[in-house]
Amino acid sequence: MNFILRGVRVIDPLARLDAHGQDVWIDSGRIVAIYHHIDEGSVPVVDLTPAPGAEECVLCPGFIDLHTHLREPGDEEAETVKSGARAAAAGGFTSIVAMANTRPPIDTPERVADAYADGRNAASPRLVVQALQRAAKGGRPVMIHPEDEEAIAQINDATGSVVRCVERPPQVETRAVDVAIRALAHARTGRLHLQHLSTARSVEMVRRAVEQGLEVTAEVTPHHLAMWLPVEAPPEPVSLLKVNPPLRTDADRAALVHALRDGTIDAMATDHAPHRAEEKSRDYANAAPGMIGLETALATCLTLGGMGGEWIPTLVERMTAGPHRVLGAAIGIPTPRLHIGEMATAALFDPDAEWTVDAESLRSRSHNTPLLGARLKGRVLLTLSEGRVVHADAARIPVAAGEVAHA
Ligand code: DOR
Repeated sequence: MNFILRGVRVIDPLARLDAHGQDVWIDSGRIVAIYHHIDEGSVPVVDLTPAPGAEECVLCPGFIDLHTHLREPGDEEAETVKSGARAAAAGGFTSIVAMANTRPPIDTPERVADAYADGRNAASPRLVVQALQRAAKGGRPVMIHPEDEEAIAQINDATGSVVRCVERPPQVETRAVDVAIRALAHARTGRLHLQHLSTARSVEMVRRAVEQGLEVTAEVTPHHLAMWLPVEAPPEPVSLLKVNPPLRTDADRAALVHALRDGTIDAMATDHAPHRAEEKSRDYANAAPGMIGLETALATCLTLGGMGGEWIPTLVERMTAGPHRVLGAAIGIPTPRLHIGEMATAALFDPDAEWTVDAESLRSRSHNTPLLGARLKGRVLLTLSEGRVVHADAARIPVAAGEVAHA
């Protein structure tokens, strides 16, 4: 592998680098040089210089997803570690954090070792305080899925599992956010990370907690940035829209976009939740919640989620340095950066490239997304992980396409 990417925009948030019109020379997986013009005789050039008025292709550190559901062990038909990793690579992700809500749950060291790679909030305030205090010793945050399950059970008159219950009004989230933030204040130590916020009120609570000096971080999904209810043309089956927390109003969506832009929300996280077709074709009340997101995350944020155009560098930050700040150093995710002389862990994307989301071309084993058939802008052309090509668009980057290794 030895090639020069010509005419790209290089964004490296931790280095505060945003350089237009660069040539990037990659040899044997290593970034050899980034300069405004590189000519090396025999080294093949991939000319990505944009047409006048078009966006430049962006080279940035590989994306980090704080919230991926793989279904191994237990439901390998929906997703395996391997198929999920392939989908991640196609989406530009080079690190993904697998959630533990598999069946059986990944809740012992042995199962972690087996799975190697939460959809639940059953945490009492006392347990959250304890968890925060223990996690603080290891420098780790406690990640909370803020949905008050007792309230959900009451509202839905449910006796068993609350996972599929449909009625989940905003208060079930804001109550859980409030309990978690209070627990953090009470613990007097630790870091709290709030997953997939969906309401404007939650954003306000996080903003206030941060102002008070509490160590709270938060994430938002591509679908909560891009979709709201009611939808004009519901997908078929309509339960493709069912997700926990639910899609909210356009005002909530706008508040989430605003919060991701201004940094109140630190990270975009997919909540990639693969489900077998059979689980989604049931009636709404009994269908499984969740949608896949790894392969559509970038394009969804760029096209529908308010993060295109002038917000591209911010989006890159929230998909690289942001999630790394939340969890990266504590669990050994490599620092997202583009350093000369280092093996590249990077994503190259074309913000202007249009494509149609279709089931056949998705790497994920599951196809549950309401975006099937949608035309989106923003395509990942190349993903490198520690110098290995784990995804390459054969039409655009032919010099790398022959070298795709397992993600
Ligand atoms: O809709 C969801 N599905 N939200 C979650 O938090 C969990 C996920 C799943 O595991 O299917």
